[in-house]
Amino acid sequence: MFDKISRSLGDLREWADERFPVTAFWQDHLVKYYAPKNLNFWYFFGSLAFLVLVIQLLTGIFLTMNYKPTADTAFASVEYIMRDVNWGWLIRYMHSTGASFFFIVIYLHMFRALLYGSYRKPRELLWVFGMLIFVVLMAEAFMGYLLPWGQMSFWGAQVIISLFGAIPYIGDELALWIRGDFVVADATLNRFFAFHVIAFPLLLIGLVLFHMIALHSVGSNNPDGIEIKKQKDENGVPLDGIPFHPYYTVKDMIGVVVFLIIFSAVIFYAPEMGGWFLERDNFVPADPLKTPEHIAPLWYFTPFYAILRAVPDKFLGVVAMGASMVVLFLLPWLDRSPVRSIRYRGTWFKLALSVFVVSFVGLAYLGTVAATPLATLFSRIFSVLYFAFFLLMPIYSKWDKTKPLPERVTGK
Ligand code: HEM
Repeated sequence: MFDKISRSLGDLREWADERFPVTAFWQDHLVKYYAPKNLNFWYFFGSLAFLVLVIQLLTGIFLTMNYKPTADTAFASVEYIMRDVNWGWLIRYMHSTGASFFFIVIYLHMFRALLYGSYRKPRELLWVFGMLIFVVLMAEAFMGYLLPWGQMSFWGAQVIISLFGAIPYIGDELALWIRGDFVVADATLNRFFAFHVIAFPLLLIGLVLFHMIALHSVGSNNPDGIEIKKQKDENGVPLDGIPFHPYYTVKDMIGVVVFLIIFSAVIFYAPEMGGWFLERDNFVPADPLKTPEHIAPLWYFTPFYAILRAVPDKFLGVVAMGASMVVLFLLPWLDRSPVRSIRYRGTWFKLALSVFVVSFVGLAYLGTVAATPLATLFSRIFSVLYFAFFLLMPIYSKWDKTKPLPERVTGK
């Protein structure tokens, strides 16, 4: 009987293959796609980003079934989802926790690229697509945060949209155009809903597809930062490559299991994460007449928000915040080191990267606290160090005394 079933399945596959390249796709992108044999745990975060994207899309669809995007109904509909819809609380907490986990995973994914120089030639476009994903993801999260129509949703959006007002000549008109009203209002909520549930998710899916096409055309970098494609056997298979399937599909499953354990623990035991994932003020309905005492964006925006606040002039602050993203895009062209991976770099790069990490985390913290004189002073110091990491890179990455590269990957 099993013989018969397997023969029928084989026939079905043949039938499909003649009409659609199922087997060819499976072979080209999984079984005969060779990844370096030395990929370590840092390489879990790409597949995890993919997993979180799917979680966000699925839970988002179910939230949309009961959410009502008007200023009068939005807050109550979220409460309804939390209290009355079967499993609504779980779907909502998966989505809100998923947003923070998306950024945790993405920041680690990007940091890996810094460690191993994965943005370097020939992976510049892979990096640029990644950066576009990052920018769109920020916009997606920002718009999603308005939807519960709590105090922080409202006032956070009010503060951020008013930043556009700082642009000379066109600023006020632009802010009005974005809001669709003189303050954040029903029209703003409606359009943010449309962008959050359809426009930006489509854009994200498209960009992730481009990211994957770029990745599969150049292949993965690895912790040694040397090209495995340079040394191939007589069949054209890289000597240091192993088939993605089954080796990395199985390895990635370990990342998925560990991730799901941590993700579930947060959802079930600390979904608000002490105000870091869901802010306390957002459990109060939006009130345009009552400004919260302390308006702060969620943690994943705060490094950039701190740079904005570090500059005394509002418009120049906006410019600095924009520039802090632009320099990230330029990374592939700022790095002049003869080696890619931190394993073979010298003291200068290691020092610069350490200072960068301290500044970034420092800014992330400072963006959450009130702008006291001391906090502002530190924000300014860290902002200068943030930019110095990028702008001085052409110099120190060249000066650096690098170690000789091995011929083959080291397998560590
Ligand atoms: C939804 C978001 C994203 C998804 C689903 C995604 C997916 C992936 C996957 C599956 C890989 C291969 C596995 C791995 O290297 O971990 C990868 C590699 C890579 N990604 Fe992403 N990514 C995302 C966002 C980003 C962002 C925001 C950046 C940077 C700004 C980025 C930069 C890179 C780079 C440079 C590589 C190659 C790394 C190497 O080969 O060493 N990605 N991505």
